[in-house]
Amino acid sequence: AMAMNEEKIWSATVLTLFPEMFPGPLGQSLAGNALKNGIWGLETVDIRSFARDKHRSVDDAPFGGGPGMVMRADVLADAVDDVGSNTGRIIYLSPQGRRLDQALARELAEQDGVVLVCGRFEGIDQRDLDGREIEEVSIGDYVLSGGETAALVLLDAVVRLLPGVIGDAAALDEESFAHGLLEYPQYTRPQVWEGREVPEVLTSGHHEKIRAWRLARAEELTRARRPDLWERYLRATKSRG
Ligand code: ADE
Repeated sequence: AMAMNEEKIWSATVLTLFPEMFPGPLGQSLAGNALKNGIWGLETVDIRSFARDKHRSVDDAPFGGGPGMVMRADVLADAVDDVGSNTGRIIYLSPQGRRLDQALARELAEQDGVVLVCGRFEGIDQRDLDGREIEEVSIGDYVLSGGETAALVLLDAVVRLLPGVIGDAAALDEESFAHGLLEYPQYTRPQVWEGREVPEVLTSGHHEKIRAWRLARAEELTRARRPDLWERYLRATKSRG
């Protein structure tokens, strides 16, 4: 039994045909240190271990014809059922899904964990999605060769939000998207480099002026590059008064 003060850690269970792709890049740096320190947990489930026949097949041709192969409904369902959904949400990474954004990353960081289903081939059987109430999440409008790299992206975005992963929690509040804006430009030494100077205000020591300068740059950048974010920011700023 768990000790009274022992909290269950946020944990990800990844269903994949390529378990060796995990933790991959998340074994390094910020996420890697947090993984080693037990701030989050990662478990992989090899979908192939649920294959039924002697050939251990996990995919088959799509009904109705067409190119590629689809993951068998029964094999994937067995893998999902073995994990159980007690962790909460089950997410299938696919271009058809809800777009991953900072709000979804925050949502997932607040749960106990997540189950991620990675597809290969042309995808998974629709009946798995319907029958196991699996949500679909896309990391962007492009096609990857499998869900694994998308799962790594999602986990990176979520894990860095977990309490204790980033030492300086204030950094999270400063960063891109925290207030719906792109980030202001950063500078460090040397103060003059290749004839280019650091904006004078940043070396003035005048904190209020620095704050105002950074906000102006963030707004300027967002307006020029991301009209979609700019519109939303304007509406949110107005409604706040
Ligand atoms: N699998 C293949 N392409 C993907 C994408 N863009 N997002 C999430 N999962 C995917």
